Amino acid sequence: MSNKMWGGRFSERPDAIMEEINVSIDVDRHLYAQDIAASKAHAAMLAKQGIITASDAKNIAKGLDTILSEIEQGKFTFKRALEDIHMNVESRLTEIMGPAAGRLHTARSRNDQVATDFRLYVRDTLDETDAALAALRLALVDRALEHAETVMPGFTHLQTAQPVTFGHHLMAYVEMTARDRGRFQDARKRLNESPLGAAALAGTSFPIDRHATAKALGFDRPMNNSLDAVSDRDFVLETLSAASICAVHLSRLAEEIVIWTSPLVGLVRLSDKFTTGSSIMPQKRNPDAAELVRAKTGRIIGALTGLLIVMKGLPLAYQKDMQEDKQGAMEAFGALSLAIRAMTGMVLDIVPDEARMHAAAGEGYATATDLADWLVRTLKMPFRDAHHVTGRIVARASKDGVALHELPLAEMQAIEPKITAAVMAVLSVESSVKSRVSYGGTAPKNVKAQAKSWLKRLEKERKLG
Ligand code: ARG
Repeated sequence: MSNKMWGGRFSERPDAIMEEINVSIDVDRHLYAQDIAASKAHAAMLAKQGIITASDAKNIAKGLDTILSEIEQGKFTFKRALEDIHMNVESRLTEIMGPAAGRLHTARSRNDQVATDFRLYVRDTLDETDAALAALRLALVDRALEHAETVMPGFTHLQTAQPVTFGHHLMAYVEMTARDRGRFQDARKRLNESPLGAAALAGTSFPIDRHATAKALGFDRPMNNSLDAVSDRDFVLETLSAASICAVHLSRLAEEIVIWTSPLVGLVRLSDKFTTGSSIMPQKRNPDAAELVRAKTGRIIGALTGLLIVMKGLPLAYQKDMQEDKQGAMEAFGALSLAIRAMTGMVLDIVPDEARMHAAAGEGYATATDLADWLVRTLKMPFRDAHHVTGRIVARASKDGVALHELPLAEMQAIEPKITAAVMAVLSVESSVKSRVSYGGTAPKNVKAQAKSWLKRLEKERKLG
């Protein structure tokens, strides 16, 4: 038997391989809730416009509700022969209410249907991501406030550079993930237009009301151009782009956690909750969650790259290539959600080794810049000369195997006679971070102010929710 949805001009069954390559139900079954919501909106509009009768619309809505609960209770049998979610739902609706179910497909096509369903799905994903990111930012801000004064080494080139505070470091990720949120919000704004009613590609001759279905589905407006409505997947690409950038941000913190927890570094510790042991080496505590957050980035960027390549060069309007838009994207959204939640857990779990951080912050002559700045400020030396003098002092200390604050004053004076004992005050890591009061700098008082203002902002966002 040929396909009953479109089999009118077909007399033979598709080849098994044809069915295998064509079927999408394993993936698009995840769109069931959106598909049913869009069908209900469409049916109600058709009745309101006098295109189908009120009683047909009522039966269609009732049937669709039944299908929704069947799927949710795991009682629905998805049939591969019916290709996709749209035909599975419609076929079941026909079983439930008879041939009048066929009226639902008036003035629409699977092309505008799938575009609508996937927009709704991605919109739901964006809303979930927003909530997950809010929880992550709150965790980061809370820990930053707690550790606004905890001194740690700041790095450039992964070499000890200048002392910073752990709170300041965490707050950097608050800023990054806040921009991620902004990107997701932008994507949501552009996404939120309805393709429904574009039909196959050209619109329809029926007197439909696209504004009504758009409104019923929470879209801001219908899309202006029917060809565009069924052809573009830029809303998926844009969301995946934002997801990729977000994942890259998460991967950097994940990598830092991997580095910091290495026994070679030992700046922080994760509890048993976020580590695993080794089956052979009893002493091991592996930061698997951090490693996996780092790795999920590959899957997310892969999905973006994959879909960009699918879409590249596709002529208008719908092409079956576009059926490949969902699997990678859905997996990527799942991976991002997991990565954000795992990172939130780790941020809450992490315990810095404050003594180790403090010691490491002072290693590698991390306060050399403070010494140079003191020479500029107190002795009115040009910075370049101060840099040179400091370099010589560091070389002296390094030769003697001592830290800067351990080098006797006389040794410093042998290099620069005008140096006084007052210099000692700027050589400790505490005074170094305390002095970095420029806007956005690492001084504990800045970090506290930033963290508190973020707490207020997060609270406001939560209320607007
Ligand atoms: N399963 C299809 C997809 O995901 C639905 C649209 C099919 N349209 C068509 N004309 N065959 O893209």
